[in-house]
Amino acid sequence: MSLLKAVVFAVVLAGLPWTGFSQDARTLFDKRIVPILKSPNPSSCAECHLSGVDLKDYIRETQTETFAALVKGGLVDLKKPEASKLLEFIRRAPQQPTPFSERVRKEELQAFSAWIRAAVNDPELLKVPLPEQAAGSTLPVEVIRHARQDQMLVSFVENIWNEVNRCAACHSPDQNAKQVKEHGERVSWIRPRDPAATLRALVDASLIDTEDPAQSLLLLKPTNTVKHGGGVKMVVGDRSYRQFRRFIDDYAATANGKYKTPEELPQPADEVSLATEIWFKLTDVPEAFDQKVLQVDVYRADPSQPDRWSADRWASSDRQVYGKGRLWQHSLSLTAPRNAARVADWKTRPALPPGEYLVRIRVDQTGKYPNPAAKPLDDSDLVGEVVVDSRWPTGYGAMTAAKYPRK
Ligand code: HEC
Ligand code: HEC
Repeated sequence: MSLLKAVVFAVVLAGLPWTGFSQDARTLFDKRIVPILKSPNPSSCAECHLSGVDLKDYIRETQTETFAALVKGGLVDLKKPEASKLLEFIRRAPQQPTPFSERVRKEELQAFSAWIRAAVNDPELLKVPLPEQAAGSTLPVEVIRHARQDQMLVSFVENIWNEVNRCAACHSPDQNAKQVKEHGERVSWIRPRDPAATLRALVDASLIDTEDPAQSLLLLKPTNTVKHGGGVKMVVGDRSYRQFRRFIDDYAATANGKYKTPEELPQPADEVSLATEIWFKLTDVPEAFDQKVLQVDVYRADPSQPDRWSADRWASSDRQVYGKGRLWQHSLSLTAPRNAARVADWKTRPALPPGEYLVRIRVDQTGKYPNPAAKPLDDSDLVGEVVVDSRWPTGYGAMTAAKYPRK
């Protein structure tokens, strides 16, 4: 080595502790952080946050702005860079991450760990004045919470999964071999015992349309608006339709980041429900009601009440009348106010306790349905009441029956 070369080498080495590090951070930022900002793909956050937060919210145009905004938000730990809050956000992983998101998460974590470690050692960066606006989502915490995938799943279970038993015979792969043979694997959109996977399947197959929620096949098929192999399973505007719609509209609005304030968030329904295999039929129904929606609401005997029937309904069901057969029949959905004690029992025993019940019968005679904005049938639609004493067995073959009451 010539003397000159040796001197240059020594000077470069001596310069490393400061120039070297600062260049390092800058290079890491350009090579590894900027591509995350530019990427059209969702970040690993999307696995748990349908919208509301994204790793891109934490990156600014330049390294200096990014670092200052992160420090301002308390997201970088200057003493222990590995313990930075931002890295904790990235490290968060669901119990069963997809291989794709796992890879994305690993890349993000390595990129930000390396850059933050270098950046906290850069005296130039440490001198930068902090901005007004911290890095991260500017949405209120209520909106971020509402948009979490686990919160969406709670609503999916309440509004759709709890009714999906009514579709299982033809749409669940453990029961629908015949339908699959005729219509292909497409009909199997239910994932048995797995509501999260079912929701993903519905979104992936575009059966939930986040661009135009009202046009979702998950609504158009069971209402037979688009010809449905299973016929009419619900009527536009009825209870099941309103439940399906409540979830689908909310999911689409959330996915599209429509909500900006807590006031815009939809309130959950006061009543919850669960479809069962308890069947009920009315015979001797007036033929004039043919094809009209008839709704039964089932109230339990309750001696403490002034009229000796429970204040809220214990079950409900609506379906069109088969006039020629003078018949109405359908499976019941259990219903309860959201906070009622009996809701907890549904998990282990989705049943109606044996005993006496009052069945209130309402018929849509004024054309409330079909209409997506229909109000529920009310007392003005009441056509009669009948008292039923039953053990409420399950199964089509063990149906509880009553005669339509004569006035
Ligand atoms: C494994 C699921 C999961 C992942 C992945 C995830 N989060 Fe979260 N996040 C949550 C949960 C659960 C909460 C609310 C409860 C809590 O804070 O522990 C939350 C809350 C938040 C909040 C609200 C405020 C706060 O301080 O808690 C922000 C902001 C946030 N996450 C950002 C992110 C970012 C950014 C990413 C991606 C880098 C991300 N999250 C990835 C589950 C996750
Ligand atoms: C008696 C059988 C049967 C029942 C019960 C049934 N369906 Fe179907 N459904 C079918 C058949 C057969 C097809 C395939 C032909 C078609 O697209 O109409 C289908 C198709 C669908 C599709 C389109 C699937 C796709 O990927 O193209 C949706 C969505 C759907 N049904 C929703 C429902 C919902 C929701 C329920 C319950 C409320 C339900 N179905 C109950 C028989 C049924």
